[in-house]
Amino acid sequence: MGREPILSVDDYLARHESKDLLRFITCGSVDDGKSTLLGRLLYDTKVLFDDQLAALEGDSLRHGTQNGELDFALLVDGLSAEREQGITIDVAYRFFTTERRKFIVADCPGHEQYTRNMATGASTADLAVVLIDARKGVLTQTRRHTYIAALLGIRHVLLAVNKMDLVGYDETTFRAIEAEYTTLAADMGIPQVSAIPVSALRGENISARATAMPWFDGPSLLEHLETVAIQPPAQTLGFRLPVQWVCRPDQNFRGYAGPVVAGSIAPGDEVVVLPGGARSRVARIVTADGDRTQATVGDAVTLTLEDERDISRGDVIAAAGDPPQVADQFAAHLLWMDESALLPGRGYWLKIGARTVGAQVTEIKHKVDVNTQDELAAKRLELNEVGYCNLSLDQPVAFEPYATCRELGAFILIDRQTNATVGAGTLDFALRRADNIHWQHLDIDRAARARLKGQAPACLWFTGLSGSGKSTVANLVEKRLFAMGRHTYLLDGDNVRHGLNRDLGFTDEDRVENIRRVAEVARLMVDAGLIVLVSFISPFRGERRMARELFAPGEFHEVFVDTPLAVCEARDVKGLYAKARAGSIKNFTGIDSPYEAPEAPEVHLQGGEEAPEQLAERVIRELLGEH
Ligand code: ADX
Repeated sequence: MGREPILSVDDYLARHESKDLLRFITCGSVDDGKSTLLGRLLYDTKVLFDDQLAALEGDSLRHGTQNGELDFALLVDGLSAEREQGITIDVAYRFFTTERRKFIVADCPGHEQYTRNMATGASTADLAVVLIDARKGVLTQTRRHTYIAALLGIRHVLLAVNKMDLVGYDETTFRAIEAEYTTLAADMGIPQVSAIPVSALRGENISARATAMPWFDGPSLLEHLETVAIQPPAQTLGFRLPVQWVCRPDQNFRGYAGPVVAGSIAPGDEVVVLPGGARSRVARIVTADGDRTQATVGDAVTLTLEDERDISRGDVIAAAGDPPQVADQFAAHLLWMDESALLPGRGYWLKIGARTVGAQVTEIKHKVDVNTQDELAAKRLELNEVGYCNLSLDQPVAFEPYATCRELGAFILIDRQTNATVGAGTLDFALRRADNIHWQHLDIDRAARARLKGQAPACLWFTGLSGSGKSTVANLVEKRLFAMGRHTYLLDGDNVRHGLNRDLGFTDEDRVENIRRVAEVARLMVDAGLIVLVSFISPFRGERRMARELFAPGEFHEVFVDTPLAVCEARDVKGLYAKARAGSIKNFTGIDSPYEAPEAPEVHLQGGEEAPEQLAERVIRELLGEH
């Protein structure tokens, strides 16, 4: 073989440019040696700069657990706070390159509560490196990560059976793990598993083949990463660009910026803007380097259109002849990532592409036991659980099934109070059941009904602990209104639970459904022209807000009957507090189930201080301005 010809700088750069890119994630349980493996990989591929190396040598002497030898885990474990805890806690993206390929690796932590980071990393990866400690074999965490990887579209797993040095480089141990894992991965829909026995600590089968395991004739981990064939997803979809922002520097220019997530486009092509449906043609494709004659998957561009259209962030610009679907109800896979459980019926924000809309899980079809793949009945999803659900959105969105297009099929759920990301999921298909249900036009409308009754319909929502006196006060308020000739109805928790809601108990999920139903009923009654009084504990802020949002501004009045727990308990009219204290009633509000006090009620009553008649008087005065 002759010497390699000397390359010019331009040739060199061009060669790197044209190398293909592999995105992968690493996942495993705590202490599997993931950080050591990744550190070793980065070290061996010489992507470390000298000063980083010097720092590593210094660190290893100070913190390292390897008797003064280089501790590769330190290289990856970045933050010092993490080092002290001995765990890795965030997704870190690292870039490295070899002669054959470029790599972006998302390092995903192994700690049980950090599954969310794994999901983040997996959503853009082509391959997952799953680490298993040879001494421990396949763990629940391994199954969970594999399930999530499969859910997020990863089809290749490199199974690194690590710490082979600690099992005497025993082939039987390796083969048993390989067989067990390959079966479970296939069950989860990952067709391609390549298992490699390694010792990250000793650098065996990481970048060079191991001498200690002559029985293994496969490639090293790095060789596999360099050569594994990754098929780019078949590009059968038409053009799609979710608009990330509308660019209007002056009167004359209006551009729509975003990534091209499918297809390609050229000036003159006809496009449709979804979910609205407006049509136009592309005028220009603008980039920082000037106008282009074409844009394709992976590009980030700004489009201008031939016509003025009302387009906002979150809309999707698509090929007019081959647009994505638009829907507001879906079947979806969901991974729950928050300490407080997912409750069907509760309102969350859903973010898909660049759009954020209100959403509820209307039904959990099942949750999945990641150990057995069994589908189990569930009323809620707890932290790290995965399930299959029906979702309902407040507005229609343009989407693709995740299997067709990751960018328009992946979503996250956001808590409306804390703004934290609490769930991540993939859309499976649109539920068509709503398509054939239309609003029936009624000639007698709510204004006509209200006029006939000669009153402004309203909802007075009484909330407070059991025994706070809310039903007593609501009852007195209704009597006063009735005496004034008003048309009223009182919905009381205890009563409604005998009929419409008799199937519900007092778990969080049942209370959410209890409030959802009664709020819908109250809305119908307000529509009918009534003044409705609702007296339910309604302990959660989220559901009281959901109720409020069903009404027109000014129609909903929250009345907080703020009676201290001690007072309610001393009254104990129904003897329920005594039972709750004795442990014979579970989930009792104020005892072992929370009450979230209103932050800005329209009326705030000090239930322990004034007599019910005075409190009722105040409600009438403050709300209706009447005596
Ligand atoms: S809510 O929390 O779902 O709004 P709701 O107002 O319908 O509660 O019902 C509360 C009534 O149910 C209480 O006034 C009490 O009489 C009765 N009850 C029985 N068990 C419980 C419990 N575990 N927690 C609270 N109330 C209970």
